[in-house]
Amino acid sequence: MVDFGDGFLWGGAIAANQAEGAWNVAGKGPDISDTLTHGIMAKEIHTKIEENAYYPSHEAIDFYHRYKDDLELMHEMGFKCFRTSIAWSRIFPTGEEEKPSEAGLAYYEEMFSTMKRLGMEPVVTISHYETPLNLVTKYNGWTSKKLISLYLRYCKAIFKRLGHLVNYWMTFNEINNVRTIPYAAAGVLLSGNKAERLSQIYQASHNMFVANARANKLAHQIMPKAHMGVMLSLSGAVIYAGTTKPEDVLGTYQLQRRSLFFADVQLRGKYPSYFKRMITENHLTLDITENELADIKAFPSDYLGFSYYRSSVYETGVNTAGGTGGLLGKPNPYLKISKWGWPIDPIGLRYLCNLLQDRYDKPLFIVENGYGDEDKIIDGKIHDQERIAYLKAHLIEVHEALQDGCNIIGYTWWGPLDIVSAGTGEMRKRYGFVYVDKNNAGEGTLRRMKKDSFYEYQKIIQTNGASL
Ligand code: BG6
Repeated sequence: MVDFGDGFLWGGAIAANQAEGAWNVAGKGPDISDTLTHGIMAKEIHTKIEENAYYPSHEAIDFYHRYKDDLELMHEMGFKCFRTSIAWSRIFPTGEEEKPSEAGLAYYEEMFSTMKRLGMEPVVTISHYETPLNLVTKYNGWTSKKLISLYLRYCKAIFKRLGHLVNYWMTFNEINNVRTIPYAAAGVLLSGNKAERLSQIYQASHNMFVANARANKLAHQIMPKAHMGVMLSLSGAVIYAGTTKPEDVLGTYQLQRRSLFFADVQLRGKYPSYFKRMITENHLTLDITENELADIKAFPSDYLGFSYYRSSVYETGVNTAGGTGGLLGKPNPYLKISKWGWPIDPIGLRYLCNLLQDRYDKPLFIVENGYGDEDKIIDGKIHDQERIAYLKAHLIEVHEALQDGCNIIGYTWWGPLDIVSAGTGEMRKRYGFVYVDKNNAGEGTLRRMKKDSFYEYQKIIQTNGASL
């Protein structure tokens, strides 16, 4: 019989900028999401707010005002945890203030207390694609070491105030997407030739590694019970070779390592040996000090949080593009794809859990997995069978991975209520078990409505997986 064991953290995950709205309420400053009209995958990135443009993040699904009712719905499904992020610019509107905003801290204190009251463990991402805009325009985001101290000031404020409510933290969302979506992952606008651009990418990564290590140190000083995790996009680590040609197999391995590199540094506490060759071959110029390396070594992360949506196929000469959700290469004839072209590969999740367990031997937390689809309302109901099939198939493989010996502590479905798509800014791409009445143009009542998947996930949680 399927059983996920005692204390498995069933839940769901969102990010502040994709759900809260209230983009300038109670002193919040603009962050990078607030100038995006079509999400972070858009070809052109604007860093100014135009008068007549429509910005999906400005209202989003108004979780800011409605979170109490929304969390009740999550509670009804039986959630044991709920993952969200703190909007950095609610706490430090420009990222540079000396003192945190009382309104911002009080807001999250109340939100996390509500979760606790409803029996949900808050799982908190400190920075989820929402760097304060000022830090982008002034410093070009994480390319500047200045952000390390500003981030730590922010961490200190939230650890001190919210630490009694939160045990599970993640320092950054998917910093390994810095190569494909640097603006989202690191608030960086790339410029210059290839070597310069790659140098900006790896300098930003390094600065975030240092911030991650120092935040871990600070967290353990302030909150002895805290679990400090990373959150990486690891769909990109599930890559199959398109042929049995040795070149393709080696290329596949190297591409996989490009994603794992970030976990290698943050969980093992040092740059891997293969990084030297990356530096020389790409002519990278990086500012890395001994002192920083010592901190990375001394304060590695406690657990590995990751997202998994899809797998990809590598073949020499075939373009492997990336974005939210991972990489996309050659089509895989054995897999179906979603309407957004994302291959559906539940076994890939079992493969990934095993790979990560073998490589890092730290607790694994699946903090994003989900299926974006359009929904049709028929006679007042939404029969989202494909979403249910995706959910069940992936959970069956999670259970297999548990049987394989993987130490998986929880699973949070991405977007348990429909939210704004990070990649495209759409509402039409829905992940939710709860429908939110709003369309791509921003029209709708924002009314919430349960889909069939709501009851299915509820049953799965109630039976601790046995209903699968
Ligand atoms: C992950 C991000 O990469 O993918 C989320 O952490 C995002 O913020 C999710 O929403 C799904 O991507 P999308 O583009 O469908 O919203």
